[in-house]
Amino acid sequence: MSDPSTQNFETRAREAIANPSNLGEMEDADSVGTAGAVDCGDMLRMWLKFTEKDGQKVIDRASFQSFGCQTAIAVASMATELLKGKTIEEAQNLTPDDLSGDLGPLPPMKIHCGQLVEGALRNALDGTPAPQSNPSSPTLAQSLNDKPKGTIKIVPLEEDSNN
Ligand code: FES
Repeated sequence: MSDPSTQNFETRAREAIANPSNLGEMEDADSVGTAGAVDCGDMLRMWLKFTEKDGQKVIDRASFQSFGCQTAIAVASMATELLKGKTIEEAQNLTPDDLSGDLGPLPPMKIHCGQLVEGALRNALDGTPAPQSNPSSPTLAQSLNDKPKGTIKIVPLEEDSNN
C-alpha cells in the first residue's frame, strides 16, 4: 500500500497538470533558462519577464515549456505562479520544495523533478537573454536532441548564441 502523503501529492499534482498555469513560450521574455535531467531525459525551459517595483527588479511573470514528467510540469506550473513579484535574490533562494508550493513537499523519488524546475529557474536568473532576437537559437526540442550524455545530475544548459 502506498504512503498516504504520496497519494495526496499525486492527487494535487494530477489536478495541477489538468490545467497548468503559464505553459508556453513567452514572446517578450527578458531571460530564459533550460535544464536537463540526463538520467531520465526530461528537459524544462523557463522564461522570465522582469519589472520594477519600489525601486527593485522583480519577476513580473514566468512561463515554461517541458519535455518532462507530470511532476515537473505540476511543479513548474506552481513555481511560475509563486515567482510573480519575487526579487532575483528571493527567487534564487527558493528550494525545489518551495517551488512546489501547494503541491506540498516532493516525495523522495520526485525530488529531481523539482530540481529540474529549480535548474531552469537558476539558469534563467543567471541572466541568459531570451533568444527571440536570435532565430537560430535552439528550440527546446532541438536542445533535447542535443542533450549531453553520460552523467546523472541536473545540468543547466547554456543558450548558445553562435549556433
Ligand atoms: Fe525526470 Fe520527473 S522523472 S523530471
